[in-house]
This record gives sequence, structure tokens and C-alpha cells, in this order.
Amino acid sequence: MAGNWKMNKTRDEALQFIYAVADNLPSIDKLDSIVCAPAIVLRDLVKRQGANLRIGAQNMNENDSGAYTGEISPLMLTSTNVTYVIIGHSERRQYYNETDVKVNEKTIKALSVGLTPIVCVGETLEERETNKTFDVLESQVKKALANIDSNDVTKVIIAYEPIWAIGTGKTATSDQADEACGFIRGLVQKLYSLNEASKIRVLYGGSVNVKNVKELMAKPNIDGGLVGGASLKAEDFITLCNDAVAVKY
Ligand code: PGA
Repeated sequence: MAGNWKMNKTRDEALQFIYAVADNLPSIDKLDSIVCAPAIVLRDLVKRQGANLRIGAQNMNENDSGAYTGEISPLMLTSTNVTYVIIGHSERRQYYNETDVKVNEKTIKALSVGLTPIVCVGETLEERETNKTFDVLESQVKKALANIDSNDVTKVIIAYEPIWAIGTGKTATSDQADEACGFIRGLVQKLYSLNEASKIRVLYGGSVNVKNVKELMAKPNIDGGLVGGASLKAEDFITLCNDAVAVKY
């Protein structure tokens, strides 16, 4: 269960959150509870993450270092003991021109430094309404995973995030989400001839909240959630994590 805070929370607010969730999350052998926070508070959160929470970044540059003003390097993240990174979120694709090629470069780089990438894919409303959902997902997944071998591919987490459901309060139905996550899982299995493809973790994201989390998590192809708005309140994040465990076990 990964929270994506986006550009929210001051340092004080981030610290309040971390103290509030500390002892209330499911044990890590049952669930990976992850908070993906703005870069400036990552170190503070890592120091206080406790036994059952992991901290992720929301983006990174694909280079180790260099003249890239304003960017954060993968080595800066690993040296801060961050363990996850969101890659290719639709907001980054839309507002910062993040292309499929960049998403692929960043995914490869993340794997090479030992970060777990959470790679986001998903269709627009227009693409869904014109029956292009699966073509779009296939193209995005193939491009994101280009040149990644079967050993590494099982370390990648893919998040299915239909753009029309992000921040809109419009959740995909649990059947739509399950169908798309199942499609992604099947595609990766086919591409890599893996029986192990069930080991690929596929998340659903888009207006997940404390009311719909159980229904979504009950679906066989949905392994977890990538949650924006509802991850900002400590109390709700705790509920999301514990409800996911209650449904999955
Ligand atoms: P949301 O965002 O839960 O606020 O819809 C999800 C995301 O963008 O990852």
C-alpha cells in the first residue's frame, strides 16, 4: 500500500504524520506500507520510519550526477536510505513531459541502484471511451520495461492508474480495475514467458479511499493501492493498510 503525497505537507506536517502512523501499521511480513513523500522530507521520514513503514520518492533523474539543476539523483535517494521510487506518474508525464523513453531509462536506473520502482501506467478518459485502454496499457508497459531482463522485471511494481480516476473522486469500478491489472500481469507473463509473473506486483491507483479499499483489494489481480488524497491523513493511511491486510489474508 503506497501513499503518494504529491506536493503536500510541510516538514512539521510530515513529522506529525510519521509519529501518528508509527505503531499502527501491519507488520512488514504481511504488507509493504510505503509513503512516497517530497524529496525535502525524505531523510526526516527515513529516520523515523519504524519497523513497518518504508519511504519512497516521487521521482528521480536517470543520471547519477551532473548539471541538471533542480533534479534529484538515484544515488542521493539510496544514500538517504529511501527504498522505493514512483516513476512515470501521469502528472509527471502530463506536466513535465516525461516520455515513455524517460520512464524506461529511470526504471532501469532505479533497478541498477537497488531502488524498487513503482511504474505508473494508465489511459485517459477519451482512450477508455474509444476502446483503446488495452492498447495504451500494452504500449506503456512494453516501453517502460524495454531492455529489462526477467530477473529484474519481478522487482518492478506496476501501478495501473487510469488518468480519469486520479484526484477526481471517480474510482474505476473494482471490476474495471481488476480487469486492467489482470491484463498487465498477463502481458508481463507473456513478454517474459514467466510462470512467476504472479510475483509481479500490480497496484491500482485512482481515488482509492477508506470506503472502497476493501472492495478493490478483494480482487485477485489487485495486489495493493497507490493512493494520493486518502494517504494524507494518518488515520486514513492506517485504515487503508490494515484493511488491505484484512482482505488479503
Ligand atoms: P488519488 O491519486 O488517490 O488522489 O486519486 C492517486 C495517484 O495519483 O497516485
